Amino acid sequence: MAFDIDMIKKVYASMAERVDKARSITGKPLTLAEKILYSHLWDGSPSKAFTRGKDYVDFAPDRVACQDATAQMALLQFMQAGKPKVAVPTTVHCDHLIQAKSGAAADLKHANDTSSEVFNFLESVSNKYGIGFWKPGAGIIHQVVLENYAFPGGMMIGTDSHTVNAGGLGMVAIGVGGADAVDVMAGMPWELKFPKLIGVRLTGKLSGWTSPKDVILKVAEILTVKGGTGAIVEYFGPGAISMSCTGKGTICNMGAEIGATTSTFGYDDSMERYLRATDRSDVADAANEVKDYLTADAEVYANPEQYFDQVIDINLSELGPLLNGPFTPDLSTSVGKEMTEKAQSNDWPMKVEWGLIGSCTNSSYEDLSRASSIAQQALDKGLKTKAEFGINPGSEQVRYTAERDGILQVFEELDAKIFTNACGPCIGQWARYSDPKNAPKNSIVHSFNRNFAKRADGNPNTHAFVASPEITAAIAIAGRLDFNPMRDTLINENGEEVMLDEPTGWELPPKGFEVKENGYLEPVADGSGVEIKVAKDSERLELLTPFKPIGGSITGAKLLIKAFGKCTTDHISMAGPWLRYRGHLDNISDNTLIGAINAFNKQTNFVKSQLTGEYDAVPATQRAYKAEGIPTVVIGDHNYGEGSSREHAAMQPRHLGVVAVIVKSFARIHETNLKKQGMLGLTFANESDYDLIQEDDTFNFVDINEFAPEKPLTIEVVHKDGSFDTIKVNHTYNASQIEWYNEGSALNLIKKENA
Ligand code: F3S
Repeated sequence: MAFDIDMIKKVYASMAERVDKARSITGKPLTLAEKILYSHLWDGSPSKAFTRGKDYVDFAPDRVACQDATAQMALLQFMQAGKPKVAVPTTVHCDHLIQAKSGAAADLKHANDTSSEVFNFLESVSNKYGIGFWKPGAGIIHQVVLENYAFPGGMMIGTDSHTVNAGGLGMVAIGVGGADAVDVMAGMPWELKFPKLIGVRLTGKLSGWTSPKDVILKVAEILTVKGGTGAIVEYFGPGAISMSCTGKGTICNMGAEIGATTSTFGYDDSMERYLRATDRSDVADAANEVKDYLTADAEVYANPEQYFDQVIDINLSELGPLLNGPFTPDLSTSVGKEMTEKAQSNDWPMKVEWGLIGSCTNSSYEDLSRASSIAQQALDKGLKTKAEFGINPGSEQVRYTAERDGILQVFEELDAKIFTNACGPCIGQWARYSDPKNAPKNSIVHSFNRNFAKRADGNPNTHAFVASPEITAAIAIAGRLDFNPMRDTLINENGEEVMLDEPTGWELPPKGFEVKENGYLEPVADGSGVEIKVAKDSERLELLTPFKPIGGSITGAKLLIKAFGKCTTDHISMAGPWLRYRGHLDNISDNTLIGAINAFNKQTNFVKSQLTGEYDAVPATQRAYKAEGIPTVVIGDHNYGEGSSREHAAMQPRHLGVVAVIVKSFARIHETNLKKQGMLGLTFANESDYDLIQEDDTFNFVDINEFAPEKPLTIEVVHKDGSFDTIKVNHTYNASQIEWYNEGSALNLIKKENA
């Protein structure tokens, strides 16, 4: 049902030959990350050494995982590829669209009532194209992946940034945009810049109140939110071996918060224990046979400075529990005295109103069991929680087993709300306030990964602090940010002073995992007869129509907007309430470029229409051009399209009739996304030509009919007074990307090739 042991054995069968070859080609011992990368090359066996942080390399991932919010557009696009089935094992997980409000049963019913069309669509597409489908309530994508699909030495991609969680089971697992997932599902290679390598040597041993979460909170402090960018973080050393597999998952999960490409750990006993406990003894047996290939060469860990681009040392025996925040996950503060001082001097509210345990970061059986040991003490010692308590188990398997073992009942006795096995408050799906914008200043503590303003409850005044589940439980019970469970006493119902003892818990359930109905739907073997369910009048879903090729003649194109300064994918396709329309290209297109600053008036969403001479919103102006069949051009500054890999930022302008985006420089992923959608992503040959562009300009692409690799294009920019400038623009299209342009999109080309 769940995993594909034959696929895993195939990966292992070729691993030795590929890794040995990579070792001889590079002429050095290999890190684990390199072993996984070199054994997943699209071209098979390695034939050359790649330069870290420089070379772009085509890979062949083993799996794809999609969550419900991002899966909508990914699957709509995949449907365009004309393939009968996905090319690699793929799963879809319904976890983001479920609000936390009243408790699991009522909240799940509400989600099924309000988002049934999205769930039904995802279920029917999954069934048709051979994709495993995890129903709402089945669990959070990354917990379910860890329990069912992750395997040591594997490579996977997922349409969610915390896909990296699977590094806890020794994978190279990377979060990507929908367009990348579509490529892999359609049988195309997946391109990645060969990452740099950061080694984290863990010595000592965790004890007392310190947990794996504190390791990553410490790493976040050291590297900051940008420090891992473009790198794979590899953890090793005796401290790594001493931690549980799900604890390793927690550490890898929050690698996303330091910007790392991914994080991973070498295969060890904790992973073997976890594989066997989750009913995958055959994977453990197969992994044991290639054990040496599932961790770095001994020489690497003996002299890490020689083989990693950066090495960080953390002694777990000296590490104490941390609280990171507010508003950023890298602002680290030790629990107790340091937090007391910092909270006082920064005026952070000392009273804690909520303690939330869950999210893909910390929702394992071990997490719940350790936090419940603190909750149990509160009951035993006559304490009531001062803050409210909310729990989101990571999966139905975790929930069912935790309930069987009495863990959830302990929280419930403390009046905790047990929410659905889903993301809930972690993604803002938390009905905490009726008017979050005007809600009061307050503090909350949670075991999640992100704590940006408004992330959990929409209230810009909520100060969210990230901590381990056990510290979250202790602080919720105390109701104070400055509480130090290692030193401070609490007054119980009888007026007595009591202290909390150190947390205890089980790494894995002593009686084994159990689940009655895990929420998984296996796709039918032949999906050709499965009908895809999309209502004609749906405002959230719309089947895609293939883009028509722009063609070899572009004249009379009008300027839509000359964007000034930073223009990220969020400026191009805003998130927030617009996420509701992720699966409806036309509806979401009403947010196109509404965050971009117009260079001529420095306002957002206010541009001049050359049709009327009037100023209006960008989408309305563009729709008017489209109605007249007039092509348009977007001009941008440096690093245009930075931020995320959101494919909507390319699809929307394309859908609305923009033919070219001409900028000083691109964020590479967005540039590729524009190419995939069959439009022109161009850069000024002379950056200063940006200054030549005026508000009423018209663009003639003089030699677009000679579009060829490495040949700059010429554009005539005609100004209002009839004068014109002829400018050169560069591009990075290779021959096959020009084919995407000629066919209207990469998917059109795939479809043509499959026909
Ligand atoms: Fe969900 Fe939050 Fe993880 S949104 S996937 S629980 S980061």
